[in-house]
Amino acid sequence: MVSTSRSESADEDPRPRTPSPDAKLDAALFRRKLMNWYKSHARELPWRGVNDPYRTWLSEVMLQQTRVGAVVDHYKKFLRKFPTILALALAPESEVLATWSGLGYYRRARMMHKTAQFLTCERGGVLPTTAAELRTLPGIGEYTSAAIASIAFGESIAVVDGNVERVLLRLTGKPEVKTAAARAFVQRKASALVPKRRISEGLNAAGDHNQAMMELGATLCLPRNPLCLHCPVYSMCTTRGEHVTPPRGVQLSRPAAYLLSLRKRGTLTEVLLELRADDASLMPGMYELPPLPLDAIQDREPLLRLRHAITNTNYYVQVFAAHGPQDSGLRHAVPASKSDLHWVLTNRLGALPLTGLARKALQRLDVMAVNLPKLPASIAD
Ligand code: ADE
Repeated sequence: MVSTSRSESADEDPRPRTPSPDAKLDAALFRRKLMNWYKSHARELPWRGVNDPYRTWLSEVMLQQTRVGAVVDHYKKFLRKFPTILALALAPESEVLATWSGLGYYRRARMMHKTAQFLTCERGGVLPTTAAELRTLPGIGEYTSAAIASIAFGESIAVVDGNVERVLLRLTGKPEVKTAAARAFVQRKASALVPKRRISEGLNAAGDHNQAMMELGATLCLPRNPLCLHCPVYSMCTTRGEHVTPPRGVQLSRPAAYLLSLRKRGTLTEVLLELRADDASLMPGMYELPPLPLDAIQDREPLLRLRHAITNTNYYVQVFAAHGPQDSGLRHAVPASKSDLHWVLTNRLGALPLTGLARKALQRLDVMAVNLPKLPASIAD
């Protein structure tokens, strides 16, 4: 429960009266208040104000399950590499995954790539313009189709993501639960609020409204400590910060160990990487440092320790040199078959589909640099 102090007497409370949960929401007033706020408070983001459905598609896919801060650089890099649907369709999958590396949920990149190839072969490289048609494409579901159709093409259709869901449940005083009934309720409310006008005089009412709803949830109507006193629709809100907050999901902790094995090739350096199997359930076709069984690393000092969070799990990662100063080495402890292991020039790492964790570890260990400084004898294989 987020508490705000309340005056005992309603007469002394300077704030507008809290609407009852059953009060009908004045949709026109809500939209006006929301849009006035959005015009002056929207964050400047590289996918806002662009007139290119491909960019809207890319940004909405990247923003699923990922924070805006993490998306901005990847979005720019991806567009530099693949500026059009055609460029994306023609690229090898490994290059698409390499450019996506660090964002996680690689299935999104694979699906976008496949869909770009489908659009290029079957639809002249052009996205359909309605949510109903967009939804027929692989990897484009309810949320993404509504986002592209409204933001890029002005269709009057509501976008409901986790942020919008929270805003509407709080606004109407319904419990923040993830039941089918709550979802259906939110969808109805969101549809009732979205403007019915199509794009006119350069204004995209539905697209801007949807982005403003998401922006409100992302910047003010926060999951834990909502900034209600800055909220443009505070006076229309049933809960005003006095909602029950759903409990935080349990965070798991897992240890993990990896091997760093380097060798010299003339003036260049190679690093040993393992390619994850094509049928692996997580991150298939991506490269990582060879994992080590935990019993192989007992009493050894790692080169690097780091924490890496993936969804609800914190991985406590240690990276070990292939050879310690006084032992025969850990290389034999890598259980992968020979065909999974590859020596890769360190100056090629930037173009390789590395897992986010491998990229982070290699960066921290200074192995991503194009030309390595002289290696300490203890870590050169
Ligand atoms: N989250 C996902 N898409 C968004 C958008 N277009 N604006 C604000 N937040 C978002």
